[in-house]
Amino acid sequence: MTTVKEMYSAQQLAERVDGMAHEIAERVSGKLTVIGVLKGSFVFLADLVRALDLAGRPCHVEFLRLSSYGSKQKASGDVVLIGGYPDVNDDRTVLLVDDIVDTGNSITYARKLLEAGGTTKIMTCTLLDKPSRREVDVTVDFVGFTIPDEFVVGYGIDYAEDYRSLPYLGTVEKE
Ligand code: IMP
Ligand code: MG
Repeated sequence: MTTVKEMYSAQQLAERVDGMAHEIAERVSGKLTVIGVLKGSFVFLADLVRALDLAGRPCHVEFLRLSSYGSKQKASGDVVLIGGYPDVNDDRTVLLVDDIVDTGNSITYARKLLEAGGTTKIMTCTLLDKPSRREVDVTVDFVGFTIPDEFVVGYGIDYAEDYRSLPYLGTVEKE
């Protein structure tokens, strides 16, 4: 049996996402395309783009789907694009949105992919940052919460595909 211990409530998440939207709205100029890294970012992205719109920054929304092969609780460095390449017009600023930056491999791969496709104005955003786990030197422009090296689930984030629909964020406890 596993249970989930709450780390951030739905309300705490909503308040922080709203705060992030205001930070982004202040710092990003020009037309904005938000690109969500699937699957983990889908709930965060849905809340973030609506908060951005309310903060006066409507945006286009695209997705890219990455997969990293490794054991269930540990991503390996081998990241691949699965699915299509996002549709980005050159004159737009791109905000790359992920759920968690852990080793840094996924966000680095996604950024390089967009740069190779000709996108020059790229900013990065993550709900959660685990800096203690970094393998690649990346600094993320907008971070929701910095957390210790703990495995988290909920609010779109999974453990072996479970818990994505959980409205809050927590750690999995094994009983
Ligand atoms: P990175 O490439 O190591 O930075 O890995 C980032 C990806 O690994 C995230 O976007 C998640 O999909 C996954 N991941 C990292 N930590 C966790 C966690 O605590 N719970 C669930 N997925 C995680
Ligand atoms: Mg992810």
